[in-house]
Amino acid sequence: MGVTFEKKRKIFHLFTKHFSYYIHVNKYNYLIHLYSGKYLNDISKERVSERYMERYAFLNDEKKETMDEDYYFSFVASQFEVAPFGKGDKRNSPFIIEGENNTPITNFLFQSYKIIKGPYSKNKYPLPHVKFLSSDVTTLIITLKDEYKEVYLELYYEISEKFDCLIRFSKIINKSSENIKVKKLSSFELDLPSSNYNILALKGTWGNDTEVEMIPLNHSLTKISDNHGGRGFYFNPSVALVSNEASLDSGEVYGFSSIYSSDFSYEFKVDEIDQTRIIGGYNEETFEYLLKENEDIYSFETIIVYSNKGINGMSQLMHNLIRKRILPSTKSIQKDFILLNSWEGFYFDFDTDKIISLVDEAKKCDINLVVIDDGWFKNRNTDTTSLGDWEVDNKKIDLKKVINYAKNLGMKIGLWVEPEMISPISDLFKEHPEYALIPEDYKHPTLFRHQLVLDLTNPKVIDYIFNKISKIFDEYDISYVKWDFNRYLTESYSSFLSTERKKETNYRFILGTYELLNRFNKKYPNILLETCSAGGGRFDLGMLFYSPQIWASDETDITLRASIQYSKNIFYPLRSIGAHVSNRKIGSIQDKACLAFFGTFGYELDITKLNEEDKKQIKFFNSLFKDFHHVVEDGDYYAIFSPFKTNYVAWNVVSKNKKECLVYFMNYKKEQTKSRFLKIKGLAPNKYYFNSLTSDIYKGSFYMNVGLNLSCPMDPYFSALFVLKEIDDIRATIFRKTKQVDGGKRDKLM
Ligand code: DGJ
Repeated sequence: MGVTFEKKRKIFHLFTKHFSYYIHVNKYNYLIHLYSGKYLNDISKERVSERYMERYAFLNDEKKETMDEDYYFSFVASQFEVAPFGKGDKRNSPFIIEGENNTPITNFLFQSYKIIKGPYSKNKYPLPHVKFLSSDVTTLIITLKDEYKEVYLELYYEISEKFDCLIRFSKIINKSSENIKVKKLSSFELDLPSSNYNILALKGTWGNDTEVEMIPLNHSLTKISDNHGGRGFYFNPSVALVSNEASLDSGEVYGFSSIYSSDFSYEFKVDEIDQTRIIGGYNEETFEYLLKENEDIYSFETIIVYSNKGINGMSQLMHNLIRKRILPSTKSIQKDFILLNSWEGFYFDFDTDKIISLVDEAKKCDINLVVIDDGWFKNRNTDTTSLGDWEVDNKKIDLKKVINYAKNLGMKIGLWVEPEMISPISDLFKEHPEYALIPEDYKHPTLFRHQLVLDLTNPKVIDYIFNKISKIFDEYDISYVKWDFNRYLTESYSSFLSTERKKETNYRFILGTYELLNRFNKKYPNILLETCSAGGGRFDLGMLFYSPQIWASDETDITLRASIQYSKNIFYPLRSIGAHVSNRKIGSIQDKACLAFFGTFGYELDITKLNEEDKKQIKFFNSLFKDFHHVVEDGDYYAIFSPFKTNYVAWNVVSKNKKECLVYFMNYKKEQTKSRFLKIKGLAPNKYYFNSLTSDIYKGSFYMNVGLNLSCPMDPYFSALFVLKEIDDIRATIFRKTKQVDGGKRDKLM
């Protein structure tokens, strides 16, 4: 059982083997956060809460001052689970509700609790979520009620021993007869007694989709958020709080990841006595929700993990959970796809013959899936037209012929779509201009990439677009779909929604997107879905709930790609990161393949134009894919060199049984001979490993403490993929004695 409640002291303890989270219900029925961190089996609420700040005082029913007798509670400095709004705590608050009197004082007080074995039932939960099994978790539900209004708040804590994580979300229920505006709705608040941290955020822009930014906490409010209504490069919805003493492999790190694909926010506020408050939830800038009597609304879920094994420890906890309980099952999907995408090879310029010759060449290179990217549908020869007109452009491509041709070679075909969009130059816009997301009478809606967004707050639009794209997938035997989303929302106040609900547009839009994705997955369980958003503009767990992989970036040049992938690796399992070998300037096919191997792996270039040597390389990497890609998919990830701190980028992935390990290394600017050792992480210290760098055998402890010796001169962008494979003791001893130059001598050294 991962939750206990000590009745006498009114203390909840949520725990895993490594993590403890303590909450106290104080005498005024506020929920006080006592502790979250390394596992602890004892706590003193008094010693933890004491703040020596101004005590709580209020007018009682007789209009007399009542003052708290001790120092355990102070609005100014107590650590709350749910800080009130409009009262004495002037730090940021997680929830704000406003009644018809326009007085948004929000003061949720403890009422009751429930502990249940297993997860909270998500039947009515409208958003993507962690799909826990009943043996994975214990759930604590705490119900609070607003001091004056018949409005309830439920806090959910799913604590999982198995995945060593805590999932937080909440729900507000209006049981009063007045209309309530929910102005702020969060998944969690976490108050920590120190400010000794940096925020690790992933910021980005198109083409440099994710970059690690370390932001020191300070006393102003730091907000890591997005307000684009999806496709927000600016900040990714996964962040970490890294203690100043922490490194890649040691020290305290809290990781947070929102399971949401629209406007999120994390607020970090250091208060006047240097405590830190973190609040994560909908971004209040673009969120307001009307609750009529008996209506409710949930927040999205946020995953919280705690590691005292540094950033890598945090990454591994995230990866394990996401792989096992978020990504959709791919049971009914062909798994061994090595794909070749037409985009960077052809852009819009292709026809039946070109695609068929691509299929032919792909076959020769052991590629088994060819994806026809943008440009296959009605009059779509540039990005200025046709979104919404999902019919094959028969003048341009004979899709049936291509599919049959591929089938005869034992290959598959995939297609690109962008269902949430509409081009002003399209039949759909002519017929249904009202399907576009434009406010009533609004004359000059903003275009991006020449396109508008469909109004997915309207169920009719969802039906229309789903039927339209379904027709394609029903008629053509497609094995893979790339689902793109190339612009963000602007002027997003739907003309379909009633006046009082206009500000719900961004939230309802993403619900519409999820509805579409859900219908797609239900109807086409055999199609592999890869989402995309002008590259990796919507790379989040909301999308990964529906699609097992996301195209990581339109930047495929290894220079930036390596740091983009390094950044994504911190939170997202490598198997979910769409990565292709392209024809960009820098690096050889081999250099590019080394990097793409640590993602989904595929190609994106006109391979008919490659020379024989390059094709040989492609075949070699494809055979490596068959032998070793499972390590990338399921192994434990360790970052070694950060491209944001060193001239290198390097990481390694070790299979769960520690028998195989893959290592990636890239050098940025040219360096001369330099003492350079690549210390591998996570091997079994006493097992022998064969390494593909020097083709000899040493123990795990050697590779971990001395490392692979790379002390040679290095050209710019020198890239490598090394394999280390466990060898049993007998074979290792024979090899070392007979083949290894220093085998005999080194036995004694180790
Ligand atoms: C943006 C994607 O990131 C690209 O890979 C490609 O699919 C284009 N859209 C097509 O328009």
